[in-house]
Amino acid sequence: MPQDEKYTNYQYSADQSVGGGLDHEKDPRWRAVDEYVLAALHPPSKLQSALDAAIKHQKDSGLPDIAVSALGGSFLALQCQLLGSRRVLEVGTLAGYSTIWFASANEGIHVTTVDIEKHHTDVARHNVSQAGYEANVEFITAPGKQALEKLVEEVKAGKREPYDFVFIDADKEGNLDYVNLSLEMTVKGACIIVDNVVRRGKVANAALIEKEPAVGGARRVIEACGKDSRLQCSLLQTVGEKNYDGMLLCRKK
Ligand code: DHB
Ligand code: MG
Repeated sequence: MPQDEKYTNYQYSADQSVGGGLDHEKDPRWRAVDEYVLAALHPPSKLQSALDAAIKHQKDSGLPDIAVSALGGSFLALQCQLLGSRRVLEVGTLAGYSTIWFASANEGIHVTTVDIEKHHTDVARHNVSQAGYEANVEFITAPGKQALEKLVEEVKAGKREPYDFVFIDADKEGNLDYVNLSLEMTVKGACIIVDNVVRRGKVANAALIEKEPAVGGARRVIEACGKDSRLQCSLLQTVGEKNYDGMLLCRKK
């Protein structure tokens, strides 16, 4: 089997547990490091309990186990703290796990979170409220593009303050539209992060564009952002409890 096929021709398993897949996709060391580091960096707290409860409610409500990892969430919150972010737009709410991380980042922060599924919004609203952040979070249930177009209109009409941080974590085919719309409603210096763009390394295989729309969505947004003179970009490959993936990191110039 040619080397590139060896590393790309596999099923994207729904089973997130360790074992199976190729060595570079799943490795027990990653989970071990996550467990060790989480205990060291994020000892029990009210926030940690609320985040754990949110994951439990997500599972009990039948939502998929695809929220950011705990360290992914704390990484995002830390970025908001470093930037002093006050207004976060999140595309893809799911059960509100990353929403809680964002809401916890800075005193008085406002998070607008968008999801196409009313069930997701309902579960997330419960989780955010249990975490004590209902005053910081605005929920919108609508298709991403439609919701963002309306937000752009409102920002342009002066009815809504522009955003300084955007986290894109929804349908992967929509990534590029979401970045372009975000650019219309963010301040200079805003941070735009796109989740899940490495996809266990499959992003490097152009042959998968047709077969796996999410790979196409990742490649399109990476290539377009690289050419976009409005942006300065990097990409962080990650491993951990959520296996091998990565985030595209952009700054609006
Ligand atoms: C998928 C989506 C996500 O947002 C994520 O964090 C992991 C996986 C997916 O659709 O496969
Ligand atoms: Mg994601």
